Amino acid sequence: MLTIKAKIIIAYMLVFGMLLCVFAYLIYESSRRAEIAKMDTRLESHADKLKTEIEEQSDEKRFPQAGEFGDIVTDGLPGVLFEVRDSVGEAVLKDSLLSTKPITFVTPTLMPRKKLSRINMNGERYRVLATPVEVDDRYLYSLLVAAPMTEAARNLTHLRLLFLISIPSALVLASIAAYLITHSAFRPIATMVATARQISASNLDQRLLVPAANDEIRQLAETLNGMIERIDSAFSAQKQFIADASHELRTPLTIIYSELEFAKRRVDDEETNESLQNSLSEIDRLARMSESLLLLARLDSSASLMTFSPVRLDELLLECVQLVNKIAEQKGIQIKVHVDEAVEIQGDSERLKGALLNLLDNAVKYSQVGGEVGASLSILTSPSRVAQIIVADNGPGISPGDLPHVFERFYRASSNRGESSGSGLGLAIAQRIISLHDGSLVVGSKLGKGTVFTLTLPVS
Ligand SMILES: Nc1ncnc2c1ncn2[C@@H]1O[C@H](COP(=O)(O)OP(=O)(O)O)[C@@H](O)[C@H]1O
Ligand SMILES: [Mg+2]
Repeated sequence: MLTIKAKIIIAYMLVFGMLLCVFAYLIYESSRRAEIAKMDTRLESHADKLKTEIEEQSDEKRFPQAGEFGDIVTDGLPGVLFEVRDSVGEAVLKDSLLSTKPITFVTPTLMPRKKLSRINMNGERYRVLATPVEVDDRYLYSLLVAAPMTEAARNLTHLRLLFLISIPSALVLASIAAYLITHSAFRPIATMVATARQISASNLDQRLLVPAANDEIRQLAETLNGMIERIDSAFSAQKQFIADASHELRTPLTIIYSELEFAKRRVDDEETNESLQNSLSEIDRLARMSESLLLLARLDSSASLMTFSPVRLDELLLECVQLVNKIAEQKGIQIKVHVDEAVEIQGDSERLKGALLNLLDNAVKYSQVGGEVGASLSILTSPSRVAQIIVADNGPGISPGDLPHVFERFYRASSNRGESSGSGLGLAIAQRIISLHDGSLVVGSKLGKGTVFTLTLPVS
């Protein structure tokens, strides 16, 4: 794919290159004509001198034939040859340099007007002027004067060479200039792209850098910033709505729960009792779900919900294991804890406890009866000092199709959707809490083998 930058440079180079070629052609063509015109003037002035001599000799010798002419002295143009022909085209006088070969000219007989042409002689190019010689108002002879075009050709070759060197150099320089100009013009766009890539739902308060120059790029940045602003407020409104809704649900849910509990105590009928018990557990689930939603909405809208203080991670882990142990024992699951050393970090112990409890709860909840769960805490020192907690189980594992989604809100693997407890919010909350601690939470799993959650937290 070609970038706009590349397209601009290519288009510019094509236009510039074409213009250069047209200009070069025009200059070359006019120089060529000027060279020829210069030669023709020189040929003509030379021919004029020769004509005067021929006319003088013809007057004295009564129209001489071949061999009857005296020497004609030529001076002036170097390398110029001449030949005089009679009315039938026979040479009557030849330049000594021409020895054997005559000047081959297309019109050998007398002609009324002068003619100019180009011929090749002994491998060299000549410009030939053929002109009638008038004696006593009669055209008796024609005079052919030929001059080599060596100098003109040399000048034109120089010109061609000059173009051959200067046009490519000009193109190279122009392409460098075009690159530099477009590069600096497009730099703000590169910065904008980098910033825009960083913006996600969790940092919508970021804005693109607006360049100082009042140009299209500034307009683009301002327009995009306006758009991010609108997305931000739409998100905030949505979060606020979720927070309000779950908050409002709290009271009626608590009332329904206690009313049902009261009714259940008074009913003796077993079937009604069971139905009331089912309703109670569903309401409990609903209440926990709305608590989770409220917490998630609050964690989303501000990190100020967290209160940071020194937290002993080793103690926290043991406490959580103890809390989950009851359910584990009921399922015959053994939780093996391994703590390398005491670790203290800065964090919100209540929130961290919530996150850890969900990992351990999941491990126990999704493992088969008699399974095994491991929870370990260790310190890693490279590249930086972090505490690492690993919660592993040998349960059913998570399928590759579900694995990338387990941290999404309300996502539950298809195999667990029948499970009545749980809402699919636990891991989303845990990951949000850990990221507010500048830590990370990742998962690895093999179907049928088990699942490993790795949690890291920076140690100050
Ligand atoms: N240890 C685990 N073993 C197998 N599946 C798991 C494990 N932990 C999480 N999952 C899958 O990830 C989903 C999301 O977990 P979570 O957000 O805690 O929701 P919940 O526990 O309420 O279902 C679970 O529904 C389950 O499908
Ligand atoms: Mg859970």
